[in-house]
Amino acid sequence: METVVSGIRPTGFLHLGNYFGALRNFIKMQDEANCFFFVADYHSLTTHPKASALNEHVKNVLVDYLAAGLDPEKSTLYMQSDLPETAELYLLLNMLAYTGELRRTTSLKEKIKNDKINNEDNVNAGLLTYPVLQAADILIHNADKVPVGKDQEQHLEMTRDFAQRFNYRYEVDYFKLPVAYNFGNELVKIPGLDGSTKMSKSDNEASCVYLSDSPEIIRKKVMKAVTDSGPIESHQEKPQAIENLFQLMKAVSTPETLQFFEGQYDNCQVRYGDMKKQLAEDMILFTAPIYEKILELRNNDDYLRKVAKQGADKARESAAKTVKEVREIIGIRSL
Ligand code: TYM
Repeated sequence: METVVSGIRPTGFLHLGNYFGALRNFIKMQDEANCFFFVADYHSLTTHPKASALNEHVKNVLVDYLAAGLDPEKSTLYMQSDLPETAELYLLLNMLAYTGELRRTTSLKEKIKNDKINNEDNVNAGLLTYPVLQAADILIHNADKVPVGKDQEQHLEMTRDFAQRFNYRYEVDYFKLPVAYNFGNELVKIPGLDGSTKMSKSDNEASCVYLSDSPEIIRKKVMKAVTDSGPIESHQEKPQAIENLFQLMKAVSTPETLQFFEGQYDNCQVRYGDMKKQLAEDMILFTAPIYEKILELRNNDDYLRKVAKQGADKARESAAKTVKEVREIIGIRSL
């Protein structure tokens, strides 16, 4: 049976991008693979969240996982920080990672640009070595597949590089070379409602539709989505903000609905108000069952604690085995 590993940072509630890029695939995979899904709380420390906010967000991600359909009896669900073995593997992999390749990582460059960090000396070492920690998360269970969105592709390439370097340096065939995975075969990138190409919690709250948004909030957000004055020529190329609405519709609506509005657009008859109303209702149809479960689970701390404890115990068994074997390969043996 294949091993599947993935995680999501607790930086807020999960949105449709997280769902279609990652979570939907987690749920499908839990029936056919040995799955480990975690809340990447160590990773979120690179941006220094407040302690109380971090704690709240960790709980929210676990709630969203369960509400969306992850089953703790099928998948191992845990908090990244409940596995100190990951931190040890991260340390060991750091010896195989080059500062040059880390500095060139696209996600780091984007972070520097978005946060307007003028001086690279101010990048914390956690941010620089972020891909090494991600590799440790994945290799700690020696994964075959990693369900993620398009933005994580490079991190997966780096994971394979570190794994291959380990195998080469120690002349073993120990780590598998895990691949980024999506059921549709292509990795996805869900756009935002604000005209941005990626729905992202850090960029703009209004661009995101959360699984935990109420129907009223979804209606409000979608009706405010950026549009323009409409096409003036038939089959006109769509500007980004309009393309985004169609992409979102493709994710949540039926093919017939999508086709109908595509036709309207191509004939210059599209009414964005109607299109947005339809999009909002289709999003609600899709998120409503998850939303209701979220409300139920939020108040069930005992159950959440039980799930986290059970997951941590199972994940540590697998992680301890890896670290023991890696230590032996490297030559760290007790005298
Ligand atoms: P994070 O927390 O930014 O995002 C979690 C997952 O959601 C996907 N995603 C998207 N997919 C499609 N469209 C979008 N607009 C969109 N926004 C987010 C991401 O691709 C990701 O799959 N570094 C990771 C967390 C992580 C991890 C790991 C993942 C830590 N260790 C080990 C896999 C394996 C991250 O920041 O994801």
